[in-house]
Amino acid sequence: MALPSINPTTTNSWKKLQEHFKAIKDVHMKDLFAQDGARANKFTIKWDDFYVDFSKNRITEETFKYLLELADDVKLKEAIYSQFSGEIINQTEGRAVLHTALRAPKDANFKVEGVNVMPEIYEVKQKIESFTNEVVNGDKKGFTGKAFTDIVNIGIGGSDLGPAMVVDSLQYYKNHLTTHFVSNVDGDHVNEVIKKLDPETTLFVIVSKTFTTQETLSNANTLKAWFLKSASEDAIAKHFVAVSTNIKNVKGFGIDENNVFPMWDWVGGRFSLWSAVGLTVSLAVGYNNFDSLLKGANKMDNHFKNEDFATNIPVVLALISVWYNNFFKAESEAIIPYSQYLNQFATYLQQGIMESNGKSVDRNGNPIDYQTGTIIWGEPGTNSQHAFFQLIHQGTKLIPADFIGFTQSLHGNQDHQDKLTSNFLAQTEALLNGKPKTEVVAEGTKEAIIPFKIFQGNKPTNTIFINKLSPESLGKLIAMYEHKIFVQGIIWNIFSYDQFGVELGKQLATKILLEINNNADNEHDSSTTNLLNYYKSLS
Ligand code: F6P
Repeated sequence: MALPSINPTTTNSWKKLQEHFKAIKDVHMKDLFAQDGARANKFTIKWDDFYVDFSKNRITEETFKYLLELADDVKLKEAIYSQFSGEIINQTEGRAVLHTALRAPKDANFKVEGVNVMPEIYEVKQKIESFTNEVVNGDKKGFTGKAFTDIVNIGIGGSDLGPAMVVDSLQYYKNHLTTHFVSNVDGDHVNEVIKKLDPETTLFVIVSKTFTTQETLSNANTLKAWFLKSASEDAIAKHFVAVSTNIKNVKGFGIDENNVFPMWDWVGGRFSLWSAVGLTVSLAVGYNNFDSLLKGANKMDNHFKNEDFATNIPVVLALISVWYNNFFKAESEAIIPYSQYLNQFATYLQQGIMESNGKSVDRNGNPIDYQTGTIIWGEPGTNSQHAFFQLIHQGTKLIPADFIGFTQSLHGNQDHQDKLTSNFLAQTEALLNGKPKTEVVAEGTKEAIIPFKIFQGNKPTNTIFINKLSPESLGKLIAMYEHKIFVQGIIWNIFSYDQFGVELGKQLATKILLEINNNADNEHDSSTTNLLNYYKSLS
């Protein structure tokens, strides 16, 4: 069954929201808090170890009601059912979307074209587990009989960003293995990594769903050539493994079939870290931690699938985001984790959110005349406070922000944790209330400086407070954003699981490469011709 295809702007709820927007657009949140002492409680969802306060948003109970009606009007419930039941909801690529099956319990029943996929998922999980244990315990050895010390993950996009972010985020839980990530086709990237490697003790994990990606194959070939300077061809079987759907190309590369960890076309690249694409995660933090990550995601899946929309975290966050994107015309959203461990989190979400929802054609194939995918950016607090927060506080743009924090630190330094948390709470309070002229004057500010010290406030934030950064809570957090992406795609009536927008540049790069190598002569605009000639004259 196809997803429902409803232009959101034609729904009754959208029209109500448009009218309501006129009444609310200038209302200050400060007044909403003053009017209703129960506001924070009304707009807070407590679930498991998550405390999600969305009261610091430019919404009232009426807004929330219409947003929930919008979810019904676009048939979100039916769409969720279609996704979880393995229907071909990635219609443009003719695929089901079942990353949720990867983290489901063994006795779950996820079917693709009538076949339960759980047995093959658990077969691969078993393979990940035993391979991980052998490498971590040192039972698996390199070509000179030494245990592995270093893992190199070779992949790009979803085959890099997810594993890289999770390994970085869970570094507290890491074992003795050192992990490296090579993604960019920029040769300086791979060469900087090579400087740190010993061929005798390095394991290479080539991750490519298609096994056709230029960057990944170039890096894999460069690393293989470097490795073969010290080892013979038959050592490749000991040092190279691959994660892919394309077994033929993997074998063509010279990798032993036993060293292939399969994945499936119903797992999108940017949603694949739960599959064998997470092999490097499992190696870095151990299989049990990898499994806890999956269990956490599964808990969020169940919450998303079963919870009423009014108390459903991904649904509520998605609706609020639509409110700013389509009514306030906010262009971007900031993700600010108050944890240095989540340094790569916004970068990771950029692919998930922007590759999924950066679309301008609806599910009927017609051009869209309303806004879709938000621009995502962010950096951890408190660093970002000293970088771009000025613009969020006093700039001209409206930038809704998610503040993600943890009540406990992992190393237990309470002094630092209290300072971190005070900043975390202070920033959303400052963004909400601002600072009026009266306060600036009361501080004895010189007359001429007063306007510069005023903060308008009324800047929206969500606070996502989690007890502790653990594999399980990280799994929940990632899955929360995955479902938010899905909900927004349904509302905007777009296909979130294809990515044709990345193809054109790839095709042109292939042509230009032929020209650089003097194997073709193509027509270009004069700008591109000049730049190409300039490069050829200097390279
Ligand atoms: O850049 C597009 C893309 O297809 C991403 O969606 C994907 O995550 C990445 O390239 C890598 O693809 P592959 O895993 O097939 O090498």
